[in-house]
Amino acid sequence: MSLRIAPVGVDDPASIDAWVEVMARIQEYEFPYLPRRTRRMAELMLEHAFPARVVEHRLAWLDGEPAGRLEVSRMTEENLKLLFFTIEVAPRFRRRGVGRALFGEVLAYAREHDRTVLVTSGSLSMPDLPAPDEAPAAFAAAFGFTNTLPELQRRLTLAEVDEDVLAGMLSAAQAKAVGYRLVRWRDAAPEELAEGVAYLESRLMTDAPSGDLPLEAEKPDVGRLRRFEEAVAARGRRTFHTGAIHEQTGALVAWTTISADEETPGHAWQQITIVDPDHRGHRLGALVKVANLRFFRAEMPQVEVVDTFNAAANGFMISINEQMGFRKLAAFQNWQLDLTKNG
Ligand code: ACO
Repeated sequence: MSLRIAPVGVDDPASIDAWVEVMARIQEYEFPYLPRRTRRMAELMLEHAFPARVVEHRLAWLDGEPAGRLEVSRMTEENLKLLFFTIEVAPRFRRRGVGRALFGEVLAYAREHDRTVLVTSGSLSMPDLPAPDEAPAAFAAAFGFTNTLPELQRRLTLAEVDEDVLAGMLSAAQAKAVGYRLVRWRDAAPEELAEGVAYLESRLMTDAPSGDLPLEAEKPDVGRLRRFEEAVAARGRRTFHTGAIHEQTGALVAWTTISADEETPGHAWQQITIVDPDHRGHRLGALVKVANLRFFRAEMPQVEVVDTFNAAANGFMISINEQMGFRKLAAFQNWQLDLTKNG
């Protein structure tokens, strides 16, 4: 048996072909409900990096066949102790040490870049949401990971949305949201809102429940926001945003986004919704979310389903989602390993 681990390179088309093939094999087993990642999406991911983050991709070749993949991702301006990674092995190559070898690369990478906390996630079996198998938990346990945060993926099937329910949610929210007005935009934030968006975005990492993950807030930075928006657009993603402005101060205090990839026309993602802590309790979360869904549907009528992730502990956002019609689809577990405590 010969095992080789090699980088996936933007200038190496054969490596991209093999990478897309491995991702497809894994996806059809692990996430059959998600649209396939196309070759074009893979190329664009390699070509257009997000700011303040370095991401590297490697492939494991077993006896000359692409068998597994590794993604390592480290932030460069905050969270300097963390190393995020993904290890995935195609089903027919499992239990032959490919995962273990890829994990060896993660450890070497962590040493090289002085990262001490490893973070990853895998599917999780729950009684009402069975995962394909227990391999992620067994693999995580084999290397001493502890579980941090369960997350649920929910899906909204747009043909089944009850417009009366949405209208009821909107008017109930509007009744409590006196003194705020809505704004909406596509893709890049308008100049006058960029600072507010950068501020709210800087809170994303830490505001949503994150279990005991040692996450640090980002520094608000309009330049970084603009580079992020450029990368999103270059990757072929359209984004639809609704925000709430506090009329007295003119500040943007709530914001939500739905994104759609041109390579997966029937599918979209509801991204994180955030409300400034000083303005919670006015139903602004529900208000921007329902208003944005309406905006999105009018702009993108071809989209059939919208998926979202929530920490299982995020009762407030989950209740809004359930009311809108989002239903549970799959469960995930975040895993963490502190190398300073585990030798
Ligand atoms: N049942 C029990 N133990 C398992 C299993 C399993 N199905 N799979 C792996 N292990 C444990 C064993 O201790 C194994 O050592 P052993 O074979 O000597 O007993 C050890 O993990 C290493 O196994 P490998 O053969 O190196 O792992 P493999 O190449 O099969 O890949 C992986 C394992 C990555 C979890 C694969 O099943 C997969 O791709 N799953 C989907 C993706 C995923 O969930 N990745 C995240 C995992 S969590 C994490 O990375 C910490």
